Amino acid sequence: MHIHRLEKIWLTVGIAMLFVFLGVIGVSAFAMGTQPPSRHHHMIDPAKVNETAPFNQPGVFQVGKTEYEAVIVSYAFGYTGGPEEQPEMRVPAGSTVHFTATSTDVVHGFEIPGTNVNMMLVPGEVSQVSHTFDRKGEYLILCNEYCGTGHEYMMTKLIVE
Ligand code: CUA
Repeated sequence: MHIHRLEKIWLTVGIAMLFVFLGVIGVSAFAMGTQPPSRHHHMIDPAKVNETAPFNQPGVFQVGKTEYEAVIVSYAFGYTGGPEEQPEMRVPAGSTVHFTATSTDVVHGFEIPGTNVNMMLVPGEVSQVSHTFDRKGEYLILCNEYCGTGHEYMMTKLIVE
């Protein structure tokens, strides 16, 4: 009688542990599956980039108190980060910038040395990354994917003031 009770307890503990393990596995698999990717991709028509929102209006737009969206179109061999009359991208220090970029022709890079910003810009794909710029200065934006004869000169800058 006494042994029977002990077995029952252990059986219960065993089953409980099994559920705990299954729960842990399930939760971690769920967490891994739902982790937001640092770069979100969705598709657009690469032949119609300049007509497709938001790329029909490249530039830096304030979207929150200290948040900006930078819409950038890359091409061989440069970046359009604003209208012709104001091509410079400027944000105040302390701003979080959400970069949204794509390519009109071939694969380009989008790297800001010294930050976590490092994207591949693929024609037809929209790439996004965010970064908070606490320090003032001129941040170089470089192409780090070989894209042709002008690759080495493909760059622009973000001014944090
Ligand atoms: Cu664009 Cu290298």
